[in-house]
Amino acid sequence: MRLAVNIDHIATLRNARGEQEPDPVAAALLAEKCGAAGIVCHLREDRRHIKDLDLARLRLGVTTKLDLEMAMTAELQQIALKTRPELITLVPEKREELTTEGGFDIARHYDVLAAYLKPFNAEGIEVSIFIEPEKKAIDLAKQAGADMVELHTGLYAQKQLDEEIALELKRIREAAVYAKSLGLKVVAGHGLNYLNIAPFRNIPEIEEVSIGHAIIARAVMTGLEEAVREMLRIIQ
Ligand code: PXP
Repeated sequence: MRLAVNIDHIATLRNARGEQEPDPVAAALLAEKCGAAGIVCHLREDRRHIKDLDLARLRLGVTTKLDLEMAMTAELQQIALKTRPELITLVPEKREELTTEGGFDIARHYDVLAAYLKPFNAEGIEVSIFIEPEKKAIDLAKQAGADMVELHTGLYAQKQLDEEIALELKRIREAAVYAKSLGLKVVAGHGLNYLNIAPFRNIPEIEEVSIGHAIIARAVMTGLEEAVREMLRIIQ
């Protein structure tokens, strides 16, 4: 199974001080150097983390696969076609949310979806849609012209009881098998971390997982020791 690393929160940290560091592009290159198969960023309407210049620099720097998560808006369609990431992932976006909440409501947007995706299909930019692990959503993603679905694992990640976790995992596994049987590529993401990722190794239909917060949070804690030592070496 491949790993795609979402570097949005490197930009969140940088933006907290309005300065240049930490640089999300440098982080992306480090993640690639360590074996990440792709870099994911979400250019949100409010540009709260990744900004337009970051996206342009990521396009220049990323050599594995750039996955642009985006809302289905005319503005993002234009930006994506100009930037030419290898992959776009359509996500729902609410201004007030802390992070993406739930999958894209394909049934609601279906009338305009196929037309929206056409230019990407024509330009050879792969299209993924972030959906709930449900048959109907998978069918509609396929009909609309998606190449791939990203199954939302947020609910799985929130569950506490063993039987509930097992049920969610079963739903995800069945959705992955079904999507693959239709010829869609299958990835998964949201809320995955060092403690809950292991069962995904047993779902071979899921080719890749997309992980952001857990990796960036871990990087802060594992890197802090060296950062403090380095400063002490300088001042003492
Ligand atoms: N996949 C999608 C579609 C997302 O919107 C996000 C969050 O930006 C992720 C994966 C990564 O989620 P997390 O930060 O919880 O690992």
